[in-house]
Amino acid sequence: MLATRRLPGEAWDELGDVEIGPLEGPRDDVEVLIVAGDRVDDRVLDLFPSLQLVANYGVGYDPVDVDACRARGVAVTNTPGVLNAATADLAFALVLATRRRVVEGDRLVRERRWGSTWSEGPFLGRDLAGATLGIVGMGRIGAAVAQRASAFEMRVLHHRRTNTGGPGYRGLDDLLRESDVVSLHLPLTTETTGVISRERLALLRDGATLVNTARGAVVDEEALVDELVSGRIGAGLDVFVHEPHVPEALVGLPNVVLTPHIGSATVETRAAMTRLVVDNVLALERGEPLKTPV
Ligand code: 8YV
Repeated sequence: MLATRRLPGEAWDELGDVEIGPLEGPRDDVEVLIVAGDRVDDRVLDLFPSLQLVANYGVGYDPVDVDACRARGVAVTNTPGVLNAATADLAFALVLATRRRVVEGDRLVRERRWGSTWSEGPFLGRDLAGATLGIVGMGRIGAAVAQRASAFEMRVLHHRRTNTGGPGYRGLDDLLRESDVVSLHLPLTTETTGVISRERLALLRDGATLVNTARGAVVDEEALVDELVSGRIGAGLDVFVHEPHVPEALVGLPNVVLTPHIGSATVETRAAMTRLVVDNVLALERGEPLKTPV
């Protein structure tokens, strides 16, 4: 077993002989790779001819070439389900932070620019109650965001690949036109890369907020930067195209809240993700069905 890092949580100790190190070889003794955001493609697979399983720490497995794995009989697992609440919470934290200008307010206080007993006119945010939240990608995490939005008395619209005809369903362009806040919860695939294009960003209302806790590359990042620099819209961004690089132009903007890909980053959730990785590895060892195959 080769893991690119030690994962947090007690379950890790149930793994037997696991080596921590980079994906370097050739090595014919490695049967399991445990990866977290690491690219696994034909070049990597060539290094490990005895490989049976790639266990991905994360629900999104876009860096793993699943077709290439399949062609070699290598199974792939991910960690769905256990991070829904944490990721939805972070999405909502970004909704609140952007709409109520929490980070700007924090900065104002710290920089000793708070000049009156309560902050006046120009510092107004926007209500969540009564505003429309558009969820793009209504899977497990999107549904958890919808739940939170209802508790905040928001009107919820959603878009998903297949129209289930449920209430609040909108085509993607209509959803972008109608929403005050848009939250992205799509996996990164060839179909979703750049799906929030320059043209689609232009559909957003003036003053709208885009929240992205999914993957940076589902948005045309250059176009997004242009919109944010113009000040026409705001954004809460946890993910970027070339992490950990964040476009320089965003750093000084007041209408953007930036976090370092922390959607699943809580003690409990990361431990549960590790539990699932370990359970998949143990299932393979015992010849049992994998818990969460991709
Ligand atoms: C991981 C994530 O931290 O689950 C995902 O898809 O984005 C995060 O939980 C990331 O994938 C690194 O493994």
